[in-house]
Amino acid sequence: MTAEWLKDAVFYEIYPQSFKDSNGDGIGDINGIIQKLDYIKSLGCNALWINPCYDSPFKDAGYDVRDYKKVAPRYGTNEDLYNLFDEAHKSGIRVLLDLVPGHTSEEHPWFLESQKAEKNEYTDRFIWTDFCFQGTDGLPYIGGESERSACYILNFFKCQPALNYGFYKTTAPWQKSFRDASALATREAIKDVMRFWLSHGCDGFRVDMAASLVKNDDEKKSGTSEVWHDIRRMLDQEFPDAAMVSEWNDPSLALRAGFDMDFYLNEPGGGYSTLMRDYYNNGGSIHGDRNCEDHSYFKKDAGGNINRFLGQYLSRYENTKDLGYISMLTCNHDTIRPRYSLGEEELKLSYAFIFTMPGVPFLYYGDEIGMKYLEVPTKEGGYFRTGSRTPMQWDESANLGFSTADASDIYLPIDDSADAPTVASQESDPDSLLNTVRSIIALRHQEEELQADAPLYIVCSDAGKPFVYRRGALLCVVNPEGKELDVTLPQNAAMHLQGDVLFEIGDISLREGIISIGAQSFAVIK
Ligand code: GLC
Ligand code: CA
Repeated sequence: MTAEWLKDAVFYEIYPQSFKDSNGDGIGDINGIIQKLDYIKSLGCNALWINPCYDSPFKDAGYDVRDYKKVAPRYGTNEDLYNLFDEAHKSGIRVLLDLVPGHTSEEHPWFLESQKAEKNEYTDRFIWTDFCFQGTDGLPYIGGESERSACYILNFFKCQPALNYGFYKTTAPWQKSFRDASALATREAIKDVMRFWLSHGCDGFRVDMAASLVKNDDEKKSGTSEVWHDIRRMLDQEFPDAAMVSEWNDPSLALRAGFDMDFYLNEPGGGYSTLMRDYYNNGGSIHGDRNCEDHSYFKKDAGGNINRFLGQYLSRYENTKDLGYISMLTCNHDTIRPRYSLGEEELKLSYAFIFTMPGVPFLYYGDEIGMKYLEVPTKEGGYFRTGSRTPMQWDESANLGFSTADASDIYLPIDDSADAPTVASQESDPDSLLNTVRSIIALRHQEEELQADAPLYIVCSDAGKPFVYRRGALLCVVNPEGKELDVTLPQNAAMHLQGDVLFEIGDISLREGIISIGAQSFAVIK
């Protein structure tokens, strides 16, 4: 059951460390988010995704959870978070927390118990082999760290032991089936965490590494999908309005497993990565050479081709449009900010595109003002990702309004360049990136045909032509090139048009079925 409110949802992702510090200790916090709810509302965002804000040793920025039910003291208290739910709801904003179901921190009490030699309730909460020298093929493991004579399996970094949801195909005696009582107990424990936050006013979850739960799964992820179906049934019965978005990047599996939305992430080989930043050319990896030749579609005169995106997107879209939503994003806390390769006009076009496509869009904090990717030292397991996690830039005051602490005590360095963008400097300029983002999101709320489930039709994707697509009866036209382009509209597209331009970046003219669209321009026409 897909939550109805998602049809008109526009999400804002907040990395809590870096959004707003309300008490001058140098790190962002929950009360800082509360102070900025009016700003979030002014963007037109009506939903939030907050990265993990739970108690943690922060070896992976909070994705190593030590206590699922406790807000990390550096961000405030549980009461502060409940208060955020309330205040956000008063402003018409829903709040998703980040659920990390695949692993805990190595300091989580469940894991401390699980490491003990003597059998206890948590012995099988994690995945253990049956001997201290017994490793595994294909799964990372650690031995020699616990009293128990066995090795444990990792889900990501060394600090993140994998919770036991069992194996789909078992190939060794120590592997439990995904229907084993121990695997079912882990499911119940995660449901309990979800119930806890939902009953305190949270509206759902972004789910970390959602495809990772059941090990040795088949290609269709049948085992992991069975877990999510089970969890979905619980939500449908107890919290029918709750929403879940998966970090899975395979919507046809994720939406069938019970997610409302699945993120469309950068990956080598085309698709989303050819839009904003061309990871295709990046040695096949987002972790590779960041200075590669960039043929991303929105980069002016870079020879990009929208069909490299459509070739992958359209089959995903057709395959899932009746089941839920694909979520496009400007960027997230794991990827390089779009500003790294795109200039201001290019960003405007790419965001206008994202906010006029089907599905539920996500805006990463700071992308609305074009914050830069900063070359900063790694922090809390961020590595190259740290450069996209620096403090939000509010105004011209000290630390660009993020915090009143001494600059040396701030969580991460603040952009100290002379042209560092801020919210304040863009507020009064109607053509700023910030105000362009506001107008296109406002139009999306105003026109039902731009929202999540209105149909998409491709009108023209020929090389050397503007890219033209239809949302219901609305026509969207984009030209990222540095010169004006024309397109003759086919009869079935021209027929619906009255010719009113509802939104425009750059120049557009329309006469007798021919659209001329200026260099680096975008328009929505009724
Ligand atoms: C996801 C998160 C990432 C984290 C990892 C392990 O990919 O987005 O930030 O490091 O999972 O939890
Ligand atoms: Ca603080």
